[in-house]
Amino acid sequence: MIQKNSGNNQYPLLVESVSNIVQSSQTRDEKLMAICQLLHESVPYYHWVGFYIADHRKKELNLGPFVGVSTEHIKIPFGRGVCGQVAETLDMIVVQNVDLESNYISCGIDVKSEIVVPVFKDGRLMAELDIDSHAEHPFTEKDKVLLKNLCRQISSLF
Ligand code: SME
Repeated sequence: MIQKNSGNNQYPLLVESVSNIVQSSQTRDEKLMAICQLLHESVPYYHWVGFYIADHRKKELNLGPFVGVSTEHIKIPFGRGVCGQVAETLDMIVVQNVDLESNYISCGIDVKSEIVVPVFKDGRLMAELDIDSHAEHPFTEKDKVLLKNLCRQISSLF
């Protein structure tokens, strides 16, 4: 288990594990699910880990593989909530305290913070990695660097 503020020295292992998953012979969704499971079980404050897949024609995000409580937010219009904002700004968003974010879609009262990282292929948004935490202010610079790195690897799945 990776403890918060432990220096997250195991993050290189996660990079290697995701690389192995990406290169495995599973389907894309099996790989995305395996990555969700890996992150969810490896980092104690990653309580919900999932992917939203971009549909540019409909300008909406569709829920893909995820681990954690089920959510009614299967489709999210671009611009709505944190995920929808990322679809428009095309940049990672870190919300360390969801009570302070006005454009936020709640997926449960336990969720206190969220990080959403875009996945690009040839400069186009393909998907988003969405992580919810029950902790307030849990995400460090190392989380941001790790997740951006993982999303660069994941882009090859699209
Ligand atoms: N909180 C997200 C919605 C997705 S759930 O976290 C699974 C948002 O504001 O976009």
